[in-house]
Amino acid sequence: MTKLLHIIATPRGDDSSTLQISRLLLNLLRDEHPAWAFDELNLTEEEIPSLTTKRVDGKYTLLSGKQLFGEERESWDTITHEIHRFLSADFYVISTPMWNFSIPYFLKQYIDVITQPKYLFQYTKTGVEGLAKNKKMVVVTSSGGDYASEKTKSLDFLEPYLQLIFGFIGIKDITFIKAEPMDMGEQKKEEALKRAEEKVKAIIYSFHSKMTQ
Ligand SMILES: Cc1cc2nc3c(=O)[nH]c(=O)nc-3n(C[C@H](O)[C@H](O)[C@H](O)COP(=O)(O)O)c2cc1C
Repeated sequence: MTKLLHIIATPRGDDSSTLQISRLLLNLLRDEHPAWAFDELNLTEEEIPSLTTKRVDGKYTLLSGKQLFGEERESWDTITHEIHRFLSADFYVISTPMWNFSIPYFLKQYIDVITQPKYLFQYTKTGVEGLAKNKKMVVVTSSGGDYASEKTKSLDFLEPYLQLIFGFIGIKDITFIKAEPMDMGEQKKEEALKRAEEKVKAIIYSFHSKMTQ
């Protein structure tokens, strides 16, 4: 059964512009795929383990090719719990606003926790191999300003970073839906939300066409 994991990185709940778009996407996906399992991970509410000395030591132990034992292993189990939840999904929707030109710290913490050697990537003779294979991701994001023009797009560190890090762990099929600008007047916000909603519908249509081909 296909499983979708919705990862939320905004604390704004019902007031969130990002979630307004991702809720539409999720509702359309639910209608389209009633048999899929939907899991929701709200990074602003659920406790994600912090990278304590023991857990970071565990990472270096794994990087050096050794196994974890005893207390290091026990401490590591909270990390593997998050990794297994992540890897159990086939499809991801990430809902994240832009914060300080990049992602909010909740999402960065989650990425730092799950991106572990032997689980999400490994070194081979030919280089790094991502282990999260055959998965699809849609990133829904909104920002106060507008980063679509030639002049401003180099200030957007969110999209290139997420492309890089999820590509590194093996996820190459990533679609971005961006609502911008959200904080430059009501009219511009409404227009941007409308454009993002149109993009959601176009994406659902393209997924549908690919699956029925
Ligand atoms: C802590 C913080 C940092 C922000 N940094 C930026 C930024 O660097 N660039 C920008 O365009 N908007 C920035 N914003 C505005 C948000 O990206 C924007 O309001 C977004 O639509 C919020 O999404 P949400 O309602 O889903 O939380 C920031 C907002 C907050 C709260």
